[in-house]
Amino acid sequence: MTPGTPKPLSLAQLPTPIERLEAPSSRLGVNLFVKRDDLTGGITSGNKVRKLEYSLAQALSEGCDVILSCGATQTNHGRALAALCAQLNLKCQLFLLGDKSDQHLGNHLLTRILGAQINYIDLHQYKDRQKLFQRAKQDWQQKGHKAFMIPTGASDALGSFGYVKAVEEIAQQSSVEFDHVVVAVGSGGTLVGLAVGNAVFEQNWKIHGITVCDDKDYFGQVAEEILDGLKKEYLPELSLCVQDLNFVDGFKGRGYGRSDTRLRRQLIQLAQECGLVLDPVYTMKAWQGLESLVDRSVIRPGENVLFIHTGGTGGLLGHGGNFGIQDFES
Ligand SMILES: Cc1ncc(COP(=O)(O)O)c(C=O)c1O
Repeated sequence: MTPGTPKPLSLAQLPTPIERLEAPSSRLGVNLFVKRDDLTGGITSGNKVRKLEYSLAQALSEGCDVILSCGATQTNHGRALAALCAQLNLKCQLFLLGDKSDQHLGNHLLTRILGAQINYIDLHQYKDRQKLFQRAKQDWQQKGHKAFMIPTGASDALGSFGYVKAVEEIAQQSSVEFDHVVVAVGSGGTLVGLAVGNAVFEQNWKIHGITVCDDKDYFGQVAEEILDGLKKEYLPELSLCVQDLNFVDGFKGRGYGRSDTRLRRQLIQLAQECGLVLDPVYTMKAWQGLESLVDRSVIRPGENVLFIHTGGTGGLLGHGGNFGIQDFES
């Protein structure tokens, strides 16, 4: 990478392993591997810590002592951020789409335990969150603090660098030449980072970003902004453009954060087939996308496929109440 690229903090447990998935490979007729980014840390596990290594480095370099961000009450990003802020002795204020009566389970429980200051907001406020951020920034300033804003999922040019770098890690650690990479898309930064890394480190992967909310038009706009930022700030020679990215719709199911019996049963079957535990909000929907790509011969027999396990165990435990007895009956 060029010398102008940002410097991360070292917060994640890297490199995460790449493991072959024997039983699903035989069942699907492809050579399937998983990148275990659910193992980037303990309480900080998942894809967000790779991004936050960059965001928080920038915050510290600007002398900020308060971090502002947002998400849903079961946000994996918010939980990882709350943990890292506690670790780095930074204050953390989160605007969470939800209600203060939401149960203290999963990520929400951990985020509370880790001491993040939470403001519960509704959808209307969430859509207008820049205003909330600006007001909070001024409030902190009046109290003698300096606040740094991290967008939803740390999906901006800076945060997505975490996944540009992850491509270098994958290329260095594996002798397998992957034909396809499959990943969940929730706020877009992971997919954009992977696609940029694919170009920068000259891999030849076909990357499939399975959208778990919104749709490919929405993510096209998000990706365009991130790519513009990357080109402007760090990678002026990058020729990758939004048309090169591949967002796959059709796996949102009943909507963001919602699951149906079919998805929960597939999640249980996969866990029992090979010990891989996914979550109902992101990674299981991405896995459904992967199986559909195989069914539709977009991924062909014998090809090398890497599934990115982006974490989400906190969310799985937070949504545990959605699992019913019928989900476990075969
Ligand atoms: C577990 C998990 N997987 C995948 C994603 C999607 O990553 P991104 O937000 O970078 O699109 C998220 C967050 O949105 C997540 O929490």
